[in-house]
Amino acid sequence: MTTKVIPGQLVAEEEVSEVAQEAATRIARALRNAIAKGSRATLALSGGNTPRDAYSALALEPAIDWTRVSVFWIDERAVAPTDDRSNYRWAKATLLDRAPIPPENVHRMHAEAPDLDGAAREYERLIRERVEVDAEGLPAFDVVVLGIGEDGHTASLFPGDPAVDTVDRFVVPVGATKEREARLTVTPPVIEHARCVFILAVGPGKREPLERIWLARGDVHRTPARIVRGCRGAVTWIIDKIAGGLG
Ligand code: 6PG
Repeated sequence: MTTKVIPGQLVAEEEVSEVAQEAATRIARALRNAIAKGSRATLALSGGNTPRDAYSALALEPAIDWTRVSVFWIDERAVAPTDDRSNYRWAKATLLDRAPIPPENVHRMHAEAPDLDGAAREYERLIRERVEVDAEGLPAFDVVVLGIGEDGHTASLFPGDPAVDTVDRFVVPVGATKEREARLTVTPPVIEHARCVFILAVGPGKREPLERIWLARGDVHRTPARIVRGCRGAVTWIIDKIAGGLG
């Protein structure tokens, strides 16, 4: 079932595994198209269980020339890359170790660095060097994969955090709170200028944030995932019916 919502297309599946498979199929298609158009593709991964399930399926997708795909991160926790909370660790287990991606194509965020702001600036330099810009002169990842938090966050852009208003940097540190470790995250311009954005959400806990995102009016500081309403490229929502309040 496909229902038009804000800019983009919505695909609502019955089962969580169908969401993961549908996402993998569409991400693979977007990567192949980017490679066909420009000989290379840039892919930026979020953390979270829902994206992670899609990565497992993506590793099995056929006919992707992974030697032409450069892998980046949307955000990372300030932990060692072997830590169970690391987005890199889970992307490695589900995708990097299971698809033939050359190690030199993998560009993880060094969020374990003591100088988190320095690590953010280092990653920004990498994005400026390696990611082609769009007509507005901003880096435009070919494919971005996002999850949605129950509080309405995406990437590591959390309600009330100043990173949500950052437009003069592409990567910034996000301070620790009682609930979560410090992180690195890309800022709204990076997400807004991506060519293909896939937003994954499953389960009853995502219904309310999705409704807040889809409302014509709302506060991006309360629901940072509303930034996707400013995306220049293709936005595809891949959700289960429960999250979408459709079933
Ligand atoms: C992170 C993510 C975050 C995640 C959402 C959804 O590092 O946690 O980048 O934005 O994608 O919180 O996570 P779930 O799919 O596990 O709910």
